[in-house]
Amino acid sequence: MPHDFMPGLAGVPAAKSAISDVDGSRGILEYRGIRVEELCAKSTFLETSYLLLFGRLPSAPELSRWTQDITRHRRLKYSIVDLLKCLPEQGHPMDALQAAVAALGMYYPGRNVKDADNNYWSAVRLVAKLPTIVAAWARLRHGDDAVPPRDDLDLSENFFYMLTETVPPPLWGEIFDDCLILHAEHTMNASTFTGLVTASTLADPYTVIASSIGALKGPLHGGANEEVVQMLKEIGSPERAGDYVRGKLAAKQKLMGFGHRVYKVKDPRATVLQSLCQRLFGECGSSPLYDVALAVERTAGELLAGKPIYPNVDFYSGIIYDKMAIDTDLFTPLFAMARVSGWLAHWLEQLRENKLFRPDQIYSGEHNRTYVPLSQRQS
Ligand code: ACO
Repeated sequence: MPHDFMPGLAGVPAAKSAISDVDGSRGILEYRGIRVEELCAKSTFLETSYLLLFGRLPSAPELSRWTQDITRHRRLKYSIVDLLKCLPEQGHPMDALQAAVAALGMYYPGRNVKDADNNYWSAVRLVAKLPTIVAAWARLRHGDDAVPPRDDLDLSENFFYMLTETVPPPLWGEIFDDCLILHAEHTMNASTFTGLVTASTLADPYTVIASSIGALKGPLHGGANEEVVQMLKEIGSPERAGDYVRGKLAAKQKLMGFGHRVYKVKDPRATVLQSLCQRLFGECGSSPLYDVALAVERTAGELLAGKPIYPNVDFYSGIIYDKMAIDTDLFTPLFAMARVSGWLAHWLEQLRENKLFRPDQIYSGEHNRTYVPLSQRQS
């Protein structure tokens, strides 16, 4: 049967899903039918994670059990910490995260993906341990010891504690938690699709998440948040933003943190992140990067008028993390810490009606060529 070739599978549905939905023309993102703005205002990352994974908001006892299960499974085995210590300290944190997550699958029973109980505990371990791996790597690579989690702190506060050995100001915890909510899920995208392809072979969930982490790393996907901050630092001041944007567009180069395959208006997550920037800088002093970002957005708006290219989720998130003194190369791992909930929700959903991914191709090569012996080939 002939098919149209859609480069990048643009517009081709790869799954039926009830997890999240994007209205790209109106700038609406919902998780299980609830808008992300409302979740940021009223929920927590762990509650949102439950919503994504299990399809509805938890009751009070369900939330308490979920929180307790996550809290109890944050710790890393010594040998996972030892494994991280063996990796080159100049390596990218996404590579360390991917290696550690793949290794988790050698310690925990995840292979029987037909066992719902097993799958629950795999999901718990992955949501719980990713922040611990990211924080451990951030310290070990500088020669510091990993800091074990503290059970009296919530997920976001504990992450900062494991990173710096200090409990962050309450506002930082709240804002960071909102950032995790905003990054937790986003319909079908490169990393989710990658995970689902791996999952369709009935591979264990640690391998599934390791695959997704690999896809998220690229600069056209989650890796863009790092490049945005590098770009803003390179521009240096709002006065230089105009020339920079003009130069980029004249050279037909892309502005990092702008554009989206689905959103044809401003990404609603960028709008929430911008209001989080304002809250954070209102309390903790302004960030020069934010002023540069506003100037870039303004100039890009003028120069790209008529083209549906606006800031995406990666444009303002790095400015928040930078203000919280988080290393730039940890930004994409933070994205993974949040998105693991969405990836796992898609994994569980697909398992209910799994079918091995085996797409087609349009062959564009030759047929019936003869084998030329090596001695007769032209150099
Ligand atoms: N800056 C300038 N122009 C852009 C940008 C941008 N960031 N994004 C798209 N365009 C232009 C293209 O040059 C192209 O113009 P043309 O039609 O005149 O040739 C047109 O818009 C279409 O661009 P495509 O790359 O074909 O569109 P696609 O849907 O594939 O783009 C993508 C989506 C890959 C995200 C793109 O916008 C991009 O590369 N952005 C920068 C990287 C980035 O911020 N990635 C993070 C995305 S969000 C996420 O993954 C979490």
